[in-house]
Amino acid sequence: MNLSDIVNRSEKAIPWSEGEKIPWDEPAFSQRMLREHLSQDHDAASRRFEIIDQHVNWIHYELLKEQPSKVLDLGCGPGFYVSRLSALGHACTGVDFSPASIEYAKKQNESEQASNTFFHHDLRTFEFGSDYDLIMLIYGEFNTFRKPDARIILTKANEALKADGRLLIELNSYSCLHAFGLAASSWHTSQSGLFSDQPYLFMEESFWNEEMQAATRRMFVIDTASGEVQQMADNHQAYKEEDLRIMAGECGFSKLQFYANWPGHGDESGDYLLMVCEK
Ligand SMILES: C[S@@+](CC[C@H](N)C(=O)[O-])C[C@H]1O[C@@H](n2cnc3c(N)ncnc32)[C@H](O)[C@@H]1O
Repeated sequence: MNLSDIVNRSEKAIPWSEGEKIPWDEPAFSQRMLREHLSQDHDAASRRFEIIDQHVNWIHYELLKEQPSKVLDLGCGPGFYVSRLSALGHACTGVDFSPASIEYAKKQNESEQASNTFFHHDLRTFEFGSDYDLIMLIYGEFNTFRKPDARIILTKANEALKADGRLLIELNSYSCLHAFGLAASSWHTSQSGLFSDQPYLFMEESFWNEEMQAATRRMFVIDTASGEVQQMADNHQAYKEEDLRIMAGECGFSKLQFYANWPGHGDESGDYLLMVCEK
């Protein structure tokens, strides 16, 4: 691609028609993303450890009632939740399609002499296994899946849980994604960053699709030395609580509980919604 492809781009991006998500699974990108996961300067990719500690406490004390449990973390990233839950006595499995994150999680597991299992796999085709007390998908990634893939994840989770097991999903709230889709275009430059180790110009524009209730972000990364342009997109399905009740019900869950943000966390932004599903 070159600059004229940017000038000649279509006026609007249709959700999921220009790409699925940022390339978490691409090896070099995943290495750069791992730096962002590990950074304690911001909450991008993963939250800072002091916040993750609070989430894990809530999961351990309130959700699992301190009972040693079998846990599956979907989209586990570098395994920050898994390693903490394991230290509290839970037997954990993590799955993620980022090669660098899974490699990091496995190394940490070894150095902590823990016995958690990590799989480098796409959630959509991964066989979840069975008899889990808790399956979780944390930090808004659920919204990035197309609705049919989100249903596959819900159905597989339902089948993999014990009769009294629970599914914990942290979504981006409807209002957060609606605002995201209506955000103004922006750009920045970087000498070296998430999108390249070389100097680049990054430009993004957002779209809200009312019919699909989905936000799309179209991104261009322009290598300043060669002028070469890389285009990518990510997409976020917005859900209202009623949509989630219907979809989760169709995937086998009969009880749902919602929390605006993490209980006891002190985050009043309204950007996140926790959903706890039971069969
Ligand atoms: C926002 S990060 C959150 C990571 C982790 N849950 C946390 O909070 O620290 C989303 C994660 O989902 C993973 N992911 C996204 N789509 C995936 C897919 N189709 N299969 C497996 N992992 C996926 C990414 O690689 C990334 O590690």
